[in-house]
Amino acid sequence: MSEVSPDNRLNELTPQEWLKFTKTWFIHNPAPRKKAEVLHPAKYPEDMIEQFVNFFTKKGDVVFDPFLGTGSTLIACYNAQRNGIGIELQNKYAQIAKDRIATKESQLQLGQSGARQHVKQLVIEGDSTKIDEQWKKFSLPQINLVITSPPYGPMLNKKGLASSKREEEGLDTKYSDDARDLGNAPSYEEFLKRLTLMFADLKPKIKIGGHLVVILQNYMDKGNYTMLAWDFAREMTKYYQFRGERIWCQDNKTLYPYGYKYSFVPNVHHHYCLIFKNLQSEEQSEKKE
Ligand SMILES: C[S@@+](CC[C@H](N)C(=O)[O-])C[C@H]1O[C@@H](n2cnc3c(N)ncnc32)[C@H](O)[C@@H]1O
Repeated sequence: MSEVSPDNRLNELTPQEWLKFTKTWFIHNPAPRKKAEVLHPAKYPEDMIEQFVNFFTKKGDVVFDPFLGTGSTLIACYNAQRNGIGIELQNKYAQIAKDRIATKESQLQLGQSGARQHVKQLVIEGDSTKIDEQWKKFSLPQINLVITSPPYGPMLNKKGLASSKREEEGLDTKYSDDARDLGNAPSYEEFLKRLTLMFADLKPKIKIGGHLVVILQNYMDKGNYTMLAWDFAREMTKYYQFRGERIWCQDNKTLYPYGYKYSFVPNVHHHYCLIFKNLQSEEQSEKKE
């Protein structure tokens, strides 16, 4: 059986586990969501996030999610024995995140021995575009990994077959009407600007050599295919080194007959997990010259 190399600076994986993760696509069909989690329109699966956390950090490291939603990143951190910090704007989702972590922690007290490393999960209810304020208010540490799925711009505000079904079931089809919600930015361009600015403000809080994984999708909007993942990746290279993508495919989603009999309209069943590295600012600007 192969061992973890003592020279491995990034993670605690065996050579086989490392190699497997470097493939640029994977299929992951999320498990059915629990009752409270289904309210949120766009939760990602914690077991998938755990694989990223295991690749880009070691036990005891610090992971940050600026768009926490129902807290999936912190559940992944808890399971992987990493410290997690998350910011979520909406009280109802922050509360779901807190409850999920409390349940995990109470299960530990009931069942497991003290062999686990002591790690903490912190849910902050607030605005992640005010990065400096949050860091001062909560005396937050330097981060090893940022992993998140931001609002997909004005995507959730458009009506579609899938959103009508959620509406009928009394579930949220958008996060809120809050003007601070990046998904409610007045235009796609403004959304992209605000989103990238948040990541630029985050740069001094990330350790040099630390990584960012941002999960996004391209999507059809009013007959135009919006290249959100690609537009965002290009903007981010002003601040971070782009290391490539892993494409997350889902092959168990309903196919809707969008465009049937007149035009090609894709059922977009994949997401881009975009990977960036935080270099020294000078190194980053040298690369651009
Ligand atoms: C795609 S969802 C994240 C879902 C999360 N990964 C999960 O598994 O539940 C994006 C989240 O960002 C939140 N959000 C939007 N603007 C925000 C802001 N300015 N500050 C903090 N959170 C914000 C939304 O309320 C929404 O819950």
